[in-house]
Amino acid sequence: MSSKESENSAALRVLNLRKTYKAAAAPALDGVTFEVGQGEFFGLLGPNGAGKSTLIGTVAGLVKPDAGSAYILGRDTVKEPRFTKMAVGIVPQEITFDPFFTVRETLRLQSGFYGIRHNDIWISTLISRLGLSDKINEKVSRLSGGMKRRVLIAQALVHKPPVIILDEPTAGVDVELRHRIWDFMQELHAHGHTIILTTHYLEEAQSLCGRIALLNGGKLAALDTTKALLSRFSGKRLRFTLRSGSLPAIADFVFERIGQTNDYAVSYRNDTDILTVLQALQSTARIDDVHTGESSLEEVFLHLTNSDKRP
Ligand SMILES: Nc1ncnc2c1ncn2[C@@H]1O[C@H](COP(=O)(O)OP(=O)(O)OP(=O)(O)O)[C@@H](O)[C@H]1O
Ligand SMILES: [Mg+2]
Repeated sequence: MSSKESENSAALRVLNLRKTYKAAAAPALDGVTFEVGQGEFFGLLGPNGAGKSTLIGTVAGLVKPDAGSAYILGRDTVKEPRFTKMAVGIVPQEITFDPFFTVRETLRLQSGFYGIRHNDIWISTLISRLGLSDKINEKVSRLSGGMKRRVLIAQALVHKPPVIILDEPTAGVDVELRHRIWDFMQELHAHGHTIILTTHYLEEAQSLCGRIALLNGGKLAALDTTKALLSRFSGKRLRFTLRSGSLPAIADFVFERIGQTNDYAVSYRNDTDILTVLQALQSTARIDDVHTGESSLEEVFLHLTNSDKRP
């Protein structure tokens, strides 16, 4: 393929990807097709077990799909593993390291793995941008979870890959680091890198991602711009405290329990009259203290995955 074709190709394209793990009852990927354009900030969302990491694993060459293909910048990831390795940086969800090495050694070794000899300037940049400066000579095995996560991110970026895939980079990290990671991802995006982000923090996806794919049960449940997803499902949200009784089972309403309390939120479409909602609620439950608001990506997500939690 000429570099011209590569220039015009999608950053990532997955075509009819299928994967059923051995002894699994259901497929982890059940025919997934979509593409991510160069320069996009793209969200790959879905509940636990939706198939996000499996999809990323097939791109990384760690999971062998039963059928279908993945392409990076127009090139088949299975047929051209070397090209894929250089073009993609993957921050895996699971933290694993060789415990004997320090932070600096780990990043130098990783550079060597990509055949890059003199990478200390970029390594220093990564170290300082990720707030690892005072840990460079520490063994990675001694770092805290959040610090390990920073090294994992730095490690995926040593070769300045044009396509960066982050599988839950902000899982279990503190507020300060989360902001640091957001800033860094946005900076990389501004420099032309394609960013594909998996996260369970929907407000994070809502504020960062231009487009979002939603996986559910190994299938693509939605794929659209964040704006369109929000407006397509834009609706109202009413919070209430349930004193007694049960919630009505109405398909158009999505209920969500807030923490372990008696507080719930119900989301409903803009064209539904609030009186209809209140009447439906009053038919089965005793309610006090209601207040309304606009829906967020959280509600869109619940609508699409149907993961409403009725008591
Ligand atoms: N190595 C494996 N062997 C067998 N089953 C697996 C393996 N990895 C994943 N699965 C199964 O495949 C399905 C999809 O898992 P996957 O890790 O891709 O989901 P995910 O969307 O990344 O979830 P999470 O949000 O929890 O990270 C799940 O049912 C999971 O149990
Ligand atoms: Mg995962």
